[in-house]
Amino acid sequence: MRGRLFWKICLAFWCTALLINQGSWLIFFLTWDPPPSLQWVMDEKVAPVQLASARNVIETGGMPAYQALRAAMPVEQQDAIEILPVAKGAQPPAPAPNKRVMMARTPEGQQLALVYVNKGESRREWSFLRSLRRSGDYMIAAAVGGLLFAAGLAWYLTRPIRTMQRGFGRLAAGQLDTRLLPDMGSRRDEIADLARDFDAMAARLEQLLAMRDQLLHDVSHELRSPLARLNLAIALMRQNPAKAATSVERIETEVRRLDELVGELLSLARLESGGQGQDSYFELGGLVENILANARYEAKASGVRVDARFTSDNEGDSITDDSLPRHDLIVQGEFELMRRALENVVRNAIKLSTTGQVVEVELRVERGQDMEALMAPSSGRAILFVRDEGPGIPDDKIASMFDPFVRLSPQASGGFGLGLAIARRAVMALGGRISARNRSYHGRPVNGLEVQIDLPLYRGGEKG
Ligand SMILES: Nc1ncnc2c1ncn2[C@@H]1O[C@H](COP(=O)(O)OP(=O)(O)O)[C@@H](O)[C@H]1O
Ligand SMILES: [Mg+2]
Repeated sequence: MRGRLFWKICLAFWCTALLINQGSWLIFFLTWDPPPSLQWVMDEKVAPVQLASARNVIETGGMPAYQALRAAMPVEQQDAIEILPVAKGAQPPAPAPNKRVMMARTPEGQQLALVYVNKGESRREWSFLRSLRRSGDYMIAAAVGGLLFAAGLAWYLTRPIRTMQRGFGRLAAGQLDTRLLPDMGSRRDEIADLARDFDAMAARLEQLLAMRDQLLHDVSHELRSPLARLNLAIALMRQNPAKAATSVERIETEVRRLDELVGELLSLARLESGGQGQDSYFELGGLVENILANARYEAKASGVRVDARFTSDNEGDSITDDSLPRHDLIVQGEFELMRRALENVVRNAIKLSTTGQVVEVELRVERGQDMEALMAPSSGRAILFVRDEGPGIPDDKIASMFDPFVRLSPQASGGFGLGLAIARRAVMALGGRISARNRSYHGRPVNGLEVQIDLPLYRGGEKG
Protein backbone atom coordinates (compact mmCIF):
# COMPACT_ATOMS: atom_id res chain seq x y z
CA MET A 1 0.00 0.00 0.00
CA ARG A 2 1.57 3.23 -1.09
CA GLY A 3 1.30 6.35 1.02
CA ARG A 4 -1.37 9.00 0.98
CA LEU A 5 0.66 11.44 -1.05
CA PHE A 6 0.88 8.93 -3.86
CA TRP A 7 -2.90 8.63 -4.08
CA LYS A 8 -3.41 12.36 -3.77
CA ILE A 9 -1.08 13.12 -6.64
CA CYS A 10 -2.33 10.21 -8.70
CA LEU A 11 -6.00 11.17 -8.36
CA ALA A 12 -5.35 14.83 -8.93
CA PHE A 13 -3.46 14.18 -12.12
CA TRP A 14 -5.93 11.62 -13.34
CA CYS A 15 -8.88 13.97 -12.84
CA THR A 16 -6.98 16.73 -14.57
CA ALA A 17 -6.16 14.48 -17.50
CA LEU A 18 -9.78 13.32 -17.81
CA LEU A 19 -11.15 16.84 -17.55
CA ILE A 20 -8.84 18.17 -20.20
CA ASN A 21 -9.50 15.19 -22.43
CA GLN A 22 -13.27 15.12 -22.23
CA GLY A 23 -13.50 18.88 -22.03
CA SER A 24 -11.71 19.39 -25.30
CA TRP A 25 -13.84 16.63 -26.86
CA LEU A 26 -16.99 18.40 -25.71
CA ILE A 27 -15.84 21.83 -26.86
CA PHE A 28 -14.95 20.37 -30.24
CA PHE A 29 -18.40 18.97 -30.74
CA LEU A 30 -20.24 21.98 -29.35
CA THR A 31 -18.52 24.29 -31.77
CA TRP A 32 -18.49 21.87 -34.70
CA ASP A 33 -20.60 22.77 -37.71
CA PRO A 34 -21.25 19.44 -39.46
CA PRO A 35 -21.20 19.62 -43.29
CA PRO A 36 -24.02 18.10 -45.46
CA SER A 37 -23.52 14.52 -46.45
CA LEU A 38 -21.90 13.59 -49.73
CA GLN A 39 -25.16 11.94 -50.83
CA TRP A 40 -27.02 15.24 -50.33
CA VAL A 41 -24.51 17.23 -52.35
CA MET A 42 -24.67 14.67 -55.18
CA ASP A 43 -28.45 14.52 -55.22
CA GLU A 44 -28.71 18.31 -55.26
CA LYS A 45 -26.61 18.33 -58.43
CA VAL A 46 -28.24 15.37 -60.10
CA ALA A 47 -31.90 16.06 -59.27
CA PRO A 48 -32.57 19.02 -61.65
CA VAL A 49 -30.92 17.21 -64.55
CA GLN A 50 -32.81 13.98 -63.96
CA LEU A 51 -36.13 15.76 -63.48
CA ALA A 52 -35.66 17.87 -66.60
CA SER A 53 -34.79 14.94 -68.81
CA ALA A 54 -37.68 12.87 -67.39
CA ARG A 55 -40.10 15.70 -68.18
CA ASN A 56 -38.74 16.06 -71.70
CA VAL A 57 -39.11 12.37 -72.37
CA ILE A 58 -42.62 12.25 -70.88
CA GLU A 59 -43.85 15.32 -72.73
CA THR A 60 -42.57 14.07 -76.06
CA GLY A 61 -43.04 10.29 -75.87
CA GLY A 62 -45.41 9.73 -72.97
CA MET A 63 -45.05 7.11 -70.26
CA PRO A 64 -43.83 4.34 -72.56
CA ALA A 65 -40.83 6.47 -73.58
CA TYR A 66 -40.11 7.21 -69.92
CA GLN A 67 -40.30 3.48 -69.04
CA ALA A 68 -37.74 2.83 -71.80
CA LEU A 69 -35.46 5.57 -70.39
CA ARG A 70 -35.86 4.21 -66.87
CA ALA A 71 -34.91 0.72 -67.96
CA ALA A 72 -31.69 2.12 -69.40
CA MET A 73 -30.70 3.78 -66.09
CA PRO A 74 -28.51 2.11 -63.43
CA VAL A 75 -30.62 0.07 -61.00
CA GLU A 76 -30.05 2.32 -57.98
CA GLN A 77 -31.17 5.34 -60.00
CA GLN A 78 -34.32 3.78 -61.41
CA ASP A 79 -36.56 4.72 -58.47
CA ALA A 80 -35.07 8.12 -57.83
CA ILE A 81 -38.05 9.84 -59.42
CA GLU A 82 -41.54 9.11 -58.25
CA ILE A 83 -44.32 9.85 -60.76
CA LEU A 84 -47.72 10.74 -59.34
CA PRO A 85 -50.79 11.49 -61.43
CA VAL A 86 -52.40 14.76 -60.43
CA ALA A 87 -56.17 14.97 -60.88
CA LYS A 88 -57.56 18.06 -62.59
CA GLY A 89 -57.87 20.89 -60.11
CA ALA A 90 -55.98 19.02 -57.37
CA GLN A 91 -52.88 20.45 -55.64
CA PRO A 92 -49.56 18.93 -56.69
CA PRO A 93 -47.40 17.67 -53.82
CA ALA A 94 -45.59 20.53 -52.03
CA PRO A 95 -41.80 20.77 -52.44
CA ALA A 96 -39.68 20.51 -49.32
CA PRO A 97 -35.95 21.13 -48.61
CA ASN A 98 -35.28 17.50 -49.51
CA LYS A 99 -37.99 17.17 -52.07
CA ARG A 100 -38.06 18.72 -55.57
CA VAL A 101 -41.26 18.63 -57.56
CA MET A 102 -41.64 19.23 -61.33
CA MET A 103 -44.85 19.12 -63.29
CA ALA A 104 -45.15 17.39 -66.67
CA ARG A 105 -47.97 16.78 -69.10
CA THR A 106 -48.11 13.63 -71.24
CA PRO A 107 -49.07 13.98 -74.93
CA GLU A 108 -52.44 12.52 -73.82
CA GLY A 109 -52.94 15.53 -71.59
CA GLN A 110 -52.45 13.75 -68.24
CA GLN A 111 -50.90 15.96 -65.49
CA LEU A 112 -48.03 14.27 -63.66
CA ALA A 113 -45.97 15.37 -60.69
CA LEU A 114 -42.33 14.24 -60.85
CA VAL A 115 -40.98 14.05 -57.28
CA TYR A 116 -37.29 13.71 -56.47
CA VAL A 117 -36.50 12.99 -52.81
CA ASN A 118 -32.95 13.74 -51.68
CA LYS A 119 -32.01 10.84 -49.46
CA GLY A 120 -28.84 12.46 -48.07
CA GLU A 121 -28.63 14.55 -44.89
CA SER A 122 -28.61 18.29 -45.39
CA ARG A 123 -27.02 18.72 -41.92
CA ARG A 124 -25.40 15.88 -40.16
CA GLU A 125 -27.44 15.21 -37.12
CA TRP A 126 -25.46 15.50 -33.91
CA SER A 127 -26.24 14.76 -30.30
CA PHE A 128 -23.93 14.74 -27.32
CA LEU A 129 -25.04 11.31 -26.24
CA ARG A 130 -24.54 9.87 -29.68
CA SER A 131 -21.07 11.32 -29.92
CA LEU A 132 -20.29 9.95 -26.48
CA ARG A 133 -21.41 6.56 -27.60
CA ARG A 134 -19.39 6.84 -30.75
CA SER A 135 -16.27 7.98 -28.81
CA GLY A 136 -16.66 5.39 -26.06
CA ASP A 137 -13.56 3.45 -27.02
CA TYR A 138 -11.58 6.59 -27.25
CA MET A 139 -12.75 7.64 -23.80
CA ILE A 140 -11.81 4.35 -22.23
CA ALA A 141 -8.41 4.55 -23.82
CA ALA A 142 -7.98 8.11 -22.56
CA ALA A 143 -9.08 7.15 -19.05
CA VAL A 144 -6.73 4.18 -18.86
CA GLY A 145 -3.89 6.15 -20.44
CA GLY A 146 -4.51 9.05 -18.06
CA LEU A 147 -4.53 6.74 -15.07
CA LEU A 148 -1.25 5.16 -16.12
CA PHE A 149 0.27 8.58 -16.67
CA ALA A 150 -0.97 9.87 -13.30
CA ALA A 151 0.26 6.79 -11.47
CA GLY A 152 3.65 7.08 -13.16
CA LEU A 153 3.95 10.73 -12.23
CA ALA A 154 2.84 10.11 -8.65
CA TRP A 155 5.36 7.33 -8.36
CA TYR A 156 8.10 9.53 -9.76
CA LEU A 157 7.30 12.28 -7.27
CA THR A 158 6.71 10.23 -4.16
CA ARG A 159 9.50 7.70 -4.52
CA PRO A 160 12.33 10.07 -3.47
CA ILE A 161 10.18 11.37 -0.62
CA ARG A 162 9.80 7.86 0.67
CA THR A 163 13.52 7.30 0.26
CA MET A 164 14.10 10.45 2.25
CA GLN A 165 11.64 9.38 4.89
CA ARG A 166 13.55 6.16 5.33
CA GLY A 167 16.79 8.16 5.49
CA PHE A 168 15.48 10.40 8.25
CA GLY A 169 14.30 7.33 10.10
CA ARG A 170 17.71 5.75 9.89
CA LEU A 171 19.41 8.98 10.96
CA ALA A 172 17.05 9.33 13.90
CA ALA A 173 17.90 5.76 14.86
CA GLY A 174 21.53 6.81 15.09
CA GLN A 175 22.88 5.61 11.76
CA LEU A 176 24.91 8.71 11.05
CA ASP A 177 26.52 7.30 7.90
CA THR A 178 23.16 7.44 6.10
CA ARG A 179 23.47 9.23 2.74
CA LEU A 180 20.64 9.86 0.31
CA LEU A 181 22.23 11.27 -2.82
CA PRO A 182 23.39 7.90 -4.19
CA ASP A 183 19.75 6.72 -4.12
CA MET A 184 18.61 9.69 -6.17
CA GLY A 185 20.02 8.30 -9.39
CA SER A 186 20.49 10.85 -12.13
CA ARG A 187 18.05 13.36 -10.68
CA ARG A 188 19.12 17.00 -10.93
CA ASP A 189 16.21 18.83 -9.34
CA GLU A 190 15.13 20.34 -6.06
CA ILE A 191 14.62 16.90 -4.60
CA ALA A 192 18.21 16.02 -5.41
CA ASP A 193 19.25 19.33 -3.78
CA LEU A 194 17.28 18.35 -0.72
CA ALA A 195 19.05 15.00 -0.62
CA ARG A 196 22.39 16.80 -0.93
CA ASP A 197 21.48 19.07 1.99
CA PHE A 198 20.43 16.06 4.00
CA ASP A 199 23.77 14.42 3.30
CA ALA A 200 25.60 17.57 4.33
CA MET A 201 23.60 17.65 7.54
CA ALA A 202 24.29 14.00 8.28
CA ALA A 203 27.98 14.46 7.56
CA ARG A 204 28.11 17.48 9.84
CA LEU A 205 26.32 15.58 12.60
CA GLU A 206 28.68 12.69 12.17
CA GLN A 207 31.64 15.01 12.33
CA LEU A 208 30.33 16.87 15.38
CA LEU A 209 29.68 13.67 17.25
CA ALA A 210 33.09 12.34 16.33
CA MET A 211 34.62 15.60 17.55
CA ARG A 212 32.72 15.37 20.78
CA ASP A 213 33.86 11.81 21.34
CA GLN A 214 37.42 12.77 20.51
CA LEU A 215 37.24 15.72 22.90
CA LEU A 216 35.87 13.56 25.67
CA HIS A 217 38.61 11.06 25.08
CA ASP A 218 41.29 13.74 25.05
CA VAL A 219 39.94 15.40 28.17
CA SER A 220 39.93 12.17 30.15
CA HIS A 221 43.40 11.41 28.90
CA GLU A 222 44.60 14.89 29.79
CA LEU A 223 43.08 14.69 33.27
CA ARG A 224 44.58 11.33 33.94
CA SER A 225 48.26 12.27 34.01
CA PRO A 226 48.06 15.08 36.60
CA LEU A 227 45.76 12.91 38.69
CA ALA A 228 48.28 10.07 38.52
CA ARG A 229 51.04 12.45 39.57
CA LEU A 230 48.87 13.72 42.42
CA ASN A 231 48.34 10.15 43.61
CA LEU A 232 52.03 9.52 43.41
CA ALA A 233 52.88 12.63 45.42
CA ILE A 234 50.36 11.68 48.09
CA ALA A 235 51.74 8.14 48.29
CA LEU A 236 55.28 9.54 48.62
CA MET A 237 54.14 11.85 51.39
CA ARG A 238 52.58 8.95 53.27
CA GLN A 239 55.71 6.89 52.89
CA ASN A 240 58.09 9.60 53.85
CA PRO A 241 56.47 12.33 55.92
CA ALA A 242 59.85 14.00 56.32
CA LYS A 243 59.82 15.01 52.64
CA ALA A 244 56.29 16.32 52.82
CA ALA A 245 57.32 19.81 51.66
CA THR A 246 58.43 18.65 48.18
CA SER A 247 55.33 16.56 47.79
CA VAL A 248 53.05 19.40 48.78
CA GLU A 249 54.79 21.62 46.23
CA ARG A 250 54.24 18.97 43.63
CA ILE A 251 50.61 18.64 44.61
CA GLU A 252 50.18 22.40 44.34
CA THR A 253 51.67 22.44 40.84
CA GLU A 254 49.39 19.65 39.67
CA VAL A 255 46.33 21.22 41.21
CA ARG A 256 47.14 24.51 39.50
CA ARG A 257 47.54 22.71 36.22
CA LEU A 258 44.25 20.90 36.67
CA ASP A 259 42.61 24.20 37.49
CA GLU A 260 44.03 25.76 34.32
CA LEU A 261 42.87 22.84 32.20
CA VAL A 262 39.39 22.91 33.64
CA GLY A 263 39.25 26.67 33.14
CA GLU A 264 40.21 26.36 29.47
CA LEU A 265 37.78 23.51 28.97
CA LEU A 266 35.03 25.57 30.49
CA SER A 267 35.65 28.48 28.18
CA LEU A 268 35.77 26.10 25.22
CA ALA A 269 32.46 24.59 26.27
CA ARG A 270 30.94 28.00 26.84
CA LEU A 271 31.96 29.10 23.37
CA GLU A 272 30.71 25.85 21.90
CA SER A 273 27.25 26.32 23.29
CA GLY A 274 27.03 29.77 21.72
CA GLY A 275 24.67 32.34 23.16
CA GLN A 276 27.16 35.19 23.16
CA GLY A 277 25.52 38.57 23.66
CA GLN A 278 24.71 40.34 20.43
CA ASP A 279 23.99 43.66 22.08
CA SER A 280 27.44 44.25 23.48
CA TYR A 281 30.17 46.13 21.64
CA PHE A 282 33.83 46.79 22.17
CA GLU A 283 36.52 48.92 20.67
CA LEU A 284 39.18 46.93 18.86
CA GLY A 285 42.04 49.46 18.87
CA GLY A 286 42.05 49.76 22.63
CA LEU A 287 41.90 46.00 23.02
CA VAL A 288 44.92 45.50 20.76
CA GLU A 289 46.84 48.18 22.62
CA ASN A 290 46.06 46.51 25.92
CA ILE A 291 47.21 43.10 24.73
CA LEU A 292 50.36 44.58 23.19
CA ALA A 293 51.33 46.12 26.50
CA ASN A 294 50.99 42.77 28.27
CA ALA A 295 52.80 40.96 25.48
CA ARG A 296 55.74 43.40 25.49
CA TYR A 297 56.10 42.86 29.20
CA GLU A 298 56.07 39.09 28.78
CA ALA A 299 58.38 39.15 25.75
CA LYS A 300 61.03 41.22 27.47
CA ALA A 301 61.94 38.24 29.63
CA SER A 302 62.89 36.15 26.59
CA GLY A 303 64.44 39.03 24.61
CA VAL A 304 61.74 39.12 21.95
CA ARG A 305 60.60 42.42 20.44
CA VAL A 306 56.92 43.09 19.77
CA ASP A 307 56.14 45.57 16.96
CA ALA A 308 52.79 47.08 16.14
CA ARG A 309 51.55 48.43 12.82
CA PHE A 310 48.33 50.02 11.71
CA THR A 311 47.28 49.97 8.09
CA SER A 312 44.18 51.65 6.77
CA ASP A 313 42.88 50.70 3.37
CA ASN A 314 40.66 53.67 2.72
CA GLU A 315 39.31 53.86 -0.83
CA GLY A 316 42.12 51.80 -2.21
CA ASP A 317 45.21 53.63 -0.91
CA SER A 318 46.85 52.21 2.14
CA ILE A 319 48.38 54.26 4.90
CA THR A 320 50.79 52.65 7.28
CA ASP A 321 51.29 54.04 10.69
CA ASP A 322 53.27 52.84 13.67
CA SER A 323 50.74 54.08 16.13
CA LEU A 324 47.43 52.43 16.68
CA PRO A 325 44.25 54.13 15.52
CA ARG A 326 42.02 56.36 17.54
CA HIS A 327 39.36 54.50 19.38
CA ASP A 328 36.77 54.19 16.69
CA LEU A 329 36.85 50.55 15.57
CA ILE A 330 33.62 49.17 16.96
CA VAL A 331 33.06 45.42 16.86
CA GLN A 332 29.80 43.80 17.86
CA GLY A 333 30.21 41.04 20.43
CA GLU A 334 31.89 40.34 23.73
CA PHE A 335 35.17 41.98 24.57
CA GLU A 336 36.35 38.95 26.51
CA LEU A 337 36.06 36.67 23.46
CA MET A 338 38.37 38.78 21.37
CA ARG A 339 40.80 39.31 24.22
CA ARG A 340 41.19 35.56 24.75
CA ALA A 341 41.56 34.89 21.03
CA LEU A 342 44.19 37.52 20.36
CA GLU A 343 46.06 36.85 23.58
CA ASN A 344 46.35 33.16 22.77
CA VAL A 345 47.72 33.88 19.32
CA VAL A 346 50.19 36.53 20.47
CA ARG A 347 51.42 34.43 23.37
CA ASN A 348 51.98 31.47 21.05
CA ALA A 349 54.06 33.71 18.80
CA ILE A 350 56.14 34.93 21.71
CA LYS A 351 56.52 31.45 23.17
CA LEU A 352 57.83 30.11 19.88
CA SER A 353 60.25 32.98 19.26
CA THR A 354 63.81 33.06 20.51
CA THR A 355 65.96 35.94 21.70
CA GLY A 356 66.38 38.71 19.13
CA GLN A 357 63.38 37.71 17.05
CA VAL A 358 60.50 40.06 16.32
CA VAL A 359 56.79 39.44 16.70
CA GLU A 360 54.74 41.79 14.56
CA VAL A 361 51.10 42.62 15.17
CA GLU A 362 49.40 44.40 12.29
CA LEU A 363 45.92 45.84 12.43
CA ARG A 364 44.54 46.56 8.98
CA VAL A 365 41.20 48.23 8.40
CA GLU A 366 39.40 47.73 5.13
CA ARG A 367 36.44 49.94 4.46
CA GLY A 368 33.61 48.75 2.25
CA GLN A 369 34.04 50.14 -1.25
CA ASP A 370 30.51 50.11 -2.55
CA MET A 371 27.52 52.07 -1.41
CA GLU A 372 25.78 48.98 -0.11
CA ALA A 373 28.64 48.24 2.26
CA LEU A 374 28.55 51.82 3.50
CA MET A 375 24.85 51.66 4.24
CA ALA A 376 25.04 48.34 6.04
CA PRO A 377 25.63 48.39 9.78
CA SER A 378 28.87 46.52 9.20
CA SER A 379 31.08 49.01 7.42
CA GLY A 380 34.13 47.09 6.37
CA ARG A 381 36.31 44.74 8.31
CA ALA A 382 39.38 44.66 10.47
CA ILE A 383 42.19 42.20 9.87
CA LEU A 384 44.72 41.33 12.52
CA PHE A 385 47.98 39.71 11.52
CA VAL A 386 50.28 38.19 14.09
CA ARG A 387 53.63 37.30 12.53
CA ASP A 388 56.64 35.71 14.18
CA GLU A 389 60.06 34.50 13.07
CA GLY A 390 59.79 31.15 14.81
CA PRO A 391 59.84 27.66 13.35
CA GLY A 392 56.45 27.84 11.64
CA ILE A 393 54.37 24.74 11.12
CA PRO A 394 54.50 21.86 8.61
CA ASP A 395 51.95 22.75 5.91
CA ASP A 396 49.95 19.55 6.39
CA LYS A 397 49.48 20.34 10.08
CA ILE A 398 48.11 23.84 9.60
CA ALA A 399 44.53 22.66 9.09
CA SER A 400 44.51 20.74 12.37
CA MET A 401 46.32 23.23 14.59
CA PHE A 402 43.01 24.89 15.55
CA ASP A 403 41.59 21.58 16.83
CA PRO A 404 41.49 20.97 20.59
CA PHE A 405 44.47 19.20 22.20
CA VAL A 406 46.69 19.57 19.16
CA ARG A 407 50.26 20.32 20.18
CA LEU A 408 52.81 20.35 17.44
CA SER A 409 56.15 21.70 18.60
CA PRO A 410 57.95 20.51 21.67
CA GLN A 411 58.86 24.15 22.48
CA ALA A 412 55.23 24.83 23.12
CA SER A 413 54.93 22.08 25.67
CA GLY A 414 53.28 23.17 28.85
CA GLY A 415 50.08 24.20 27.12
CA PHE A 416 47.18 21.87 26.60
CA GLY A 417 46.72 22.59 22.92
CA LEU A 418 43.45 24.33 23.69
CA GLY A 419 44.54 27.92 23.10
CA LEU A 420 43.97 28.03 19.33
CA ALA A 421 40.79 25.97 19.61
CA ILE A 422 39.43 28.58 21.99
CA ALA A 423 40.68 31.37 19.72
CA ARG A 424 38.92 29.91 16.69
CA ARG A 425 35.61 29.48 18.49
CA ALA A 426 35.84 32.99 19.92
CA VAL A 427 36.56 34.56 16.54
CA MET A 428 33.75 32.59 14.98
CA ALA A 429 31.39 33.75 17.70
CA LEU A 430 32.27 37.31 16.69
CA GLY A 431 31.37 36.53 13.09
CA GLY A 432 34.99 36.43 11.97
CA ARG A 433 37.50 33.92 10.69
CA ILE A 434 40.94 32.82 11.79
CA SER A 435 43.55 31.19 9.60
CA ALA A 436 47.27 30.55 9.60
CA ARG A 437 49.99 30.17 7.02
CA ASN A 438 53.75 29.91 6.97
CA ARG A 439 55.29 33.22 6.05
CA SER A 440 56.74 33.99 2.71
CA TYR A 441 58.44 37.04 1.27
CA HIS A 442 57.88 37.74 -2.41
CA GLY A 443 56.91 34.13 -2.97
CA ARG A 444 59.95 32.71 -1.16
CA PRO A 445 59.33 31.06 2.20
CA VAL A 446 60.87 32.77 5.20
CA ASN A 447 60.88 31.57 8.80
CA GLY A 448 57.81 32.06 10.85
CA LEU A 449 54.09 31.75 11.03
CA GLU A 450 51.43 34.30 10.19
CA VAL A 451 48.07 34.04 11.90
CA GLN A 452 45.26 36.11 10.40
CA ILE A 453 42.04 37.11 12.17
CA ASP A 454 39.28 38.69 10.07
CA LEU A 455 36.60 40.57 11.96
CA PRO A 456 33.54 42.37 10.64
CA LEU A 457 33.46 45.95 11.87
CA TYR A 458 30.22 47.28 13.20
CA ARG A 459 31.33 50.85 12.63
CA GLY A 460 34.50 52.80 12.21
CA GLY A 461 37.63 52.77 10.16
CA GLU A 462 38.04 56.51 9.51
CA LYS A 463 41.30 57.72 10.91
CA GLY A 464 41.38 61.24 12.19
N1 LIG B 1 53.30 30.97 16.13
C1 LIG B 1 53.44 29.62 16.05
N2 LIG B 1 54.50 29.09 15.42
C2 LIG B 1 54.64 27.74 15.36
N3 LIG B 1 53.77 26.85 15.89
C3 LIG B 1 52.71 27.33 16.55
C4 LIG B 1 52.48 28.72 16.67
N4 LIG B 1 51.32 28.90 17.34
C5 LIG B 1 50.86 27.66 17.65
N5 LIG B 1 51.69 26.72 17.18
C6 LIG B 1 51.51 25.29 17.31
O1 LIG B 1 50.15 24.99 17.46
C7 LIG B 1 49.96 24.20 18.62
C8 LIG B 1 48.63 24.53 19.23
O2 LIG B 1 48.67 25.80 19.83
P1 LIG B 1 47.70 26.12 21.03
O3 LIG B 1 46.35 25.68 20.61
O4 LIG B 1 47.86 27.53 21.39
O5 LIG B 1 48.16 25.16 22.13
P2 LIG B 1 49.24 25.35 23.27
O6 LIG B 1 49.77 26.71 23.15
O7 LIG B 1 48.49 25.09 24.49
O8 LIG B 1 50.26 24.30 22.97
C9 LIG B 1 51.11 24.51 19.51
O9 LIG B 1 51.41 23.38 20.28
C10 LIG B 1 52.22 24.80 18.54
O10 LIG B 1 52.87 23.60 18.19
MG1 LIG C 1 48.78 28.50 23.03
